[in-house]
Amino acid sequence: MTLTVGGLTVRRGGREVLREVDLEVPPGQVTALLGANGAGKSTLVLTVAGLLRAESGSVRAGDDELTGLRPERVRRLGVAAVPEGHRVLGSLTVADNLRVAGPATGAALEAFPELTELAGRPAGSLSGGQQQMLALAQAIAGRPRYLLVDELSFGLAPAVVARLVPALAALAADGVGVLLIEQYTQLALDLAERVHVLDRGRVTLRGTPEELRDKLHSAYLGDLDGDL
Ligand SMILES: Nc1ncnc2c1ncn2[C@@H]1O[C@H](COP(=O)(O)OP(=O)(O)O)[C@@H](O)[C@H]1O
Ligand SMILES: [Mg+2]
Repeated sequence: MTLTVGGLTVRRGGREVLREVDLEVPPGQVTALLGANGAGKSTLVLTVAGLLRAESGSVRAGDDELTGLRPERVRRLGVAAVPEGHRVLGSLTVADNLRVAGPATGAALEAFPELTELAGRPAGSLSGGQQQMLALAQAIAGRPRYLLVDELSFGLAPAVVARLVPALAALAADGVGVLLIEQYTQLALDLAERVHVLDRGRVTLRGTPEELRDKLHSAYLGDLDGDL
């Protein structure tokens, strides 16, 4: 059961920001989607999640057609998205944020035991890293078959990111198909089995991290970070 994006074209503000994008997210592994700021990564996540409408193309999860479905239906069919920025409900407690997210709160707390101690705190009082943890835990509580994480590391300290990464790896090991969106490459190259690079709305490179390491350096992302 693979999450398959086929020929996806999306317009925003009168402009084509995704053009005929093909992408597969197989179960049980991490797939990375890389690209510079403005490449269309978040647009892809929002479209798959049912929050934006495609002009053409399709999104399927196995045999389930997701194209054009509303976000709640997409989620019910097993596709969870952690959008860019934190979307936890700040005035609700951590426990209530988990409760509204889905039935598998046990699995969510198992992934992030430190949330247990924070259960009574308003989510808005958590640090950025703790909120990202809660956002991931909420996704896990819905028992997704696929998890799309937009900018996992954005604004977080390396130590916090290092705490989140094993949780994603564990989900993949459990059979979840993870799509990891990153602007910075090293983390994604370390975790992913396959990598896709978006450049101005088109997939311009794809392959294994080994295949792409050198090309990435010279091509589209070379100006983004020096730690490849
Ligand atoms: N709400 C919006 N309305 C119109 N255009 C948008 C909107 N959000 C993003 N865009 C445009 O869509 C393109 C892709 O943006 P986005 O998907 O956010 O890229 P990325 O996540 O890779 O940085 C950019 O050119 C951006 O300016
Ligand atoms: Mg983005």
